[in-house]
Amino acid sequence: MDDAVLMRVENLKMHFDVSKRLFSKKKTLLKAVDDVSLSLRRGRTFGLVGESGCGKTTLGRTIVRLYKPTAGRIWYSDADLSPLSDAALMPYRSKMQMIFQDSFSSLNPRMMVGDIIAEPLRIQHRFASAREERELVEALVERIGLRKDHISRYPHEFSGGQRQRIGIARALANTPEFIVCDEPISALDVSIQAQVINLLLDLQDQMGLTYLFVSHDLSMVRHISHEVGVMYLGHMVETAPVHELYSHMLHPYTEALMSAVPQADPDMAEKSRRIILQGDVPTPIDPPSGCPFRTRCPYPKPICEQVMPALQDVGHGHFVACHQAAGSNSSARSI
Ligand SMILES: Nc1ncnc2c1ncn2[C@@H]1O[C@H](COP(=O)(O)OP(=O)(O)O)[C@@H](O)[C@H]1O
Ligand code: SF4
Ligand SMILES: [Mg+2]
Repeated sequence: MDDAVLMRVENLKMHFDVSKRLFSKKKTLLKAVDDVSLSLRRGRTFGLVGESGCGKTTLGRTIVRLYKPTAGRIWYSDADLSPLSDAALMPYRSKMQMIFQDSFSSLNPRMMVGDIIAEPLRIQHRFASAREERELVEALVERIGLRKDHISRYPHEFSGGQRQRIGIARALANTPEFIVCDEPISALDVSIQAQVINLLLDLQDQMGLTYLFVSHDLSMVRHISHEVGVMYLGHMVETAPVHELYSHMLHPYTEALMSAVPQADPDMAEKSRRIILQGDVPTPIDPPSGCPFRTRCPYPKPICEQVMPALQDVGHGHFVACHQAAGSNSSARSI
């Protein structure tokens, strides 16, 4: 694998058996992630966008092997994590961490901050002495912008932004290389969001961290990502380097998502037409035939009903899964 790439995901599928939940006698699968491939470059941020329920969290959780994938490969450097047992995964667990949207429910309310941060390492018996543990915890709280005296306080004594910092410190305790940031700022006040983002960017610079950054906020994703992927109904429908995607979006779904973002520049706002998506997102239990987006696409053709479009390379690191957009880069831009 290319040295610049830390992780590569190939044809990943995560299907949940929901037969029991639906009281169904026949096996019913919910295809939360269906045939997704992507590369995560070292020290870079891959921004992941798409409407609620399209599979972003499931993709993140499967990549860090909180789920065993239904199919596909997850390469971490040269190791395929997809078939590994819990025991065999141990050396990789500490290298891959997650930060969640809801910092309050992810922090144990009965534990003091110092214990919350040290816990992952205690479980692995990684401290030689109580002093070593205290020194590491103190260094971590300072690194994420809290004070040493915060160590002996409980989560409810902190603001949302501070709790998110504690979640970040806990994730950093293991000195990870890769962090899934799953909507880490969407529950925070706007004034606090920038502070947490700046902390994540500083940590990336200092520690060379690789992020998968899941967000609804397309302006934020543009600001912090190097590559961006757009998901729809369990599929990756478009990926590209950030400037390429935001200047030459090709997939009709990406176009619709972007058109909903308020434009700060009045000229741009006039030029960009607002595309209102019709209808609801179909269920991943019974997705449409052919293109998953065809029931809401403004430009469907007969082929879209019959053939699932594959993610195709259209140059400049840009990939798109659409029969019409992939045909020709320049003509596609006029659809
Ligand atoms: N553990 C699970 N069991 C069954 N279905 C799930 C599970 N987790 C997520 N799903 C379903 O998978 C789909 C994708 O969910 P999710 O990954 O949470 O999407 P997103 O993060 O983009 O909002 C949804 O239809 C959701 O209901
Ligand atoms: S393949 Fe067809 S239905 Fe799907 S996004 Fe492209 S034009 Fe629309
Ligand atoms: Mg989610």
